Amino acid sequence: MTRRLVIAVDGPAAAGKGTLARRLAEALGLPYLDTGLLYRATGRRMIDAGQDPATAPAEAFAASVGLADLSRTDLRVPEVDRAASLVASQPAVRRMLVDVQRRFADTHGAVLDGRDIGTVIFPDASVKLFITASPYTRAVRRWEQMAACTDVPDRAEQIARVEREIAARDAADSSRAVAPLRAAEDAVHIETDHLNADEVLAEALRVVARMTR
Ligand code: CDP
Ligand code: CDP
Repeated sequence: MTRRLVIAVDGPAAAGKGTLARRLAEALGLPYLDTGLLYRATGRRMIDAGQDPATAPAEAFAASVGLADLSRTDLRVPEVDRAASLVASQPAVRRMLVDVQRRFADTHGAVLDGRDIGTVIFPDASVKLFITASPYTRAVRRWEQMAACTDVPDRAEQIARVEREIAARDAADSSRAVAPLRAAEDAVHIETDHLNADEVLAEALRVVARMTR
């Protein structure tokens, strides 16, 4: 029996993990899961219930999150960025969300992107990629995703604010006790500051071909 193909894509905020993972999945004919959406949906449910993600237990909210939540359109807003990172530091929340991620790859394999896919969720993944870029590059990428217009007078100021926000989230994600953001020892690093999304995909496909020969 051939081993099912599981590809883990981890890295800090706005490095291009989701873009790469989605395109890799399409190229390889695999299902794709954006695991950040599970934490975002948990944070969203807490906010909607009037609970403070910084202080209240989030386990019950994580328990009710499923794949159906992932199509919600209100998960990529700054207050949910923060809420997701806060609930993601609660060990009970992470435990609650392990099964849904592992089951997702059960039948056909999968490409999953997040922070702990190669270290915790699939430590035996066929391929582990760790995608990085400088904080400034990532801030520009996130700002361009959010901004309808790039020609505004306070562009530099807005990018600096986004950079502070993602730096704070990276620091929280990297320093938490459970499943901190870090590269697995056997992860292949792709530094993307000077690569466009096509070039990153091409490099990732080369790594996959090499590692699954
Ligand atoms: O999932 P993650 O937060 O790591 O990043 P993303 O949402 O996939 O990517 C952030 C933005 O960077 C998107 O608008 C991409 O088009 C852009 N981008 C990229 O993904 N890869 C590059 N090499 C350059 C830009
Ligand atoms: O797209 P971006 O990289 O900004 O964030 P995301 O991947 O949607 O993740 C949102 C938050 O969820 C992160 O800041 C992490 O705190 C948390 N997360 C996690 O802890 N573990 C994962 N596998 C995925 C996300």
